[in-house]
Amino acid sequence: MDAYTYYNPTRLVFGKDQITALKDELGALGKKVLLVYGGGSIKRNGLYDKVMNELKGLGAEVSELSGVEPNPRLSTVKRGIDICKEEGIECLLAVGGGSVIDCTKAIAAGAKYDGDVWDLITLKAQPEEALPFGAILTLAATGSEMNAGSVITNWETQEKYGWGSPLNFPKFSILDPTYTFSVPKDQTIYGIVDMMSHVLEQYFHNAQNTPLQDRFAESILLTVMDAAPKLLEDLENYELRETILYSGTMALNGTLQMGVRGDWGSHNIEHAVSAVYDIPHAGGLAILFPNWMRHNIDTNVERFKQLATRVFDVETEGKSDKQIGLEGIDRLSAFWTSLGAPNTLAHYKIDNSKLDVIAEKAMARGEFGNFSKQNKEDVLTILEMSL
Ligand code: NZQ
Ligand code: ZN
Repeated sequence: MDAYTYYNPTRLVFGKDQITALKDELGALGKKVLLVYGGGSIKRNGLYDKVMNELKGLGAEVSELSGVEPNPRLSTVKRGIDICKEEGIECLLAVGGGSVIDCTKAIAAGAKYDGDVWDLITLKAQPEEALPFGAILTLAATGSEMNAGSVITNWETQEKYGWGSPLNFPKFSILDPTYTFSVPKDQTIYGIVDMMSHVLEQYFHNAQNTPLQDRFAESILLTVMDAAPKLLEDLENYELRETILYSGTMALNGTLQMGVRGDWGSHNIEHAVSAVYDIPHAGGLAILFPNWMRHNIDTNVERFKQLATRVFDVETEGKSDKQIGLEGIDRLSAFWTSLGAPNTLAHYKIDNSKLDVIAEKAMARGEFGNFSKQNKEDVLTILEMSL
């Protein structure tokens, strides 16, 4: 294993009707609250009213930032920071999916930073202070509810970057599977692809002696693959929503990265694609990740073979390790398309006209990938394979 320090201070409150915990959890953070949410799904499914009711019971003074976009934008982060400064906000409450939570993380740090918040997102500066915040998650996908990551898009410059700070952990996150009942089929599929991709990013590492890490990762993949097709036929099934919600959090809350350094190259390429084309994050991953795998299989064929045999039940007789590994990748891609995810960039009407622009953006922070270093040539090859 690689040496590691595990740190995760988020209090996770999981289960039906656990919104009642809001009183104690948010009450401890402050009275002047900025409520952050997206384009209106929480108004349509009744969660907004429930939250406002709880906040009223708390005697909170509530300001609101609504309209956080999927792939949240820097301009929205800045609007939130202005509200915090003007209204003397003491704490924030994010109610939504990963985009709302990521945006809230940037607002919380930006409100306590004197310079331009883009400095924090581009890693030119590190935040030293942040407003405290909590989250109520409405979509199982990113793990943002229990991690310190945040991904923000600067639409003017077409740049999308992930950044992190220990100050970015939510103080608490409330996860009630019933709040995810209204997630439409396409977003449910994207969430499933995203959480599986997070597991895979961490499965591809170069550490030795990681039997438990590997089994943890494989068990999340197997669990999600078992539940996903059933859930898509029965979107309001409590048990299936519960399983997927728990899986999404466990896929990216630091557990899987104990002792390993995950690759994260496919995410880097996807962020570059969605900075230029504003496509759903996991739609991009479903297309790019299998091609990153095919391109990098020779880095460690054994790992790909292990995945193929343990997770995708690939028969081994009479086949080379590489053939087995490639068959596993084909089965992963076929599983995602069987759910309804795309497998070519053409699905989003993306042709070869801007591949160089995308590749440049992917290289903005230099060569990347902890399992397999990627340069611009590699990125272009993977993009071409994905057309
Ligand atoms: O905006 P509203 O109206 O709320 O609708 C949202 C949005 O249109 C809708 N939705 C969410 N909960 C719903 C619901 N609709 C009905 N019922 C509900 N209960 O779903 C749409 C997508 O929401 P979004 O928050 O964008 O999705 P997701 O959670 O997949 O987040 C995607 C963002 O997270 C970043 C991605 O790059 C992308 O910007 N990521 C963040 C990570 C992190 N912080 O650790 C890691 C990930 O790899 C990822 O990069
Ligand atoms: Zn992701």
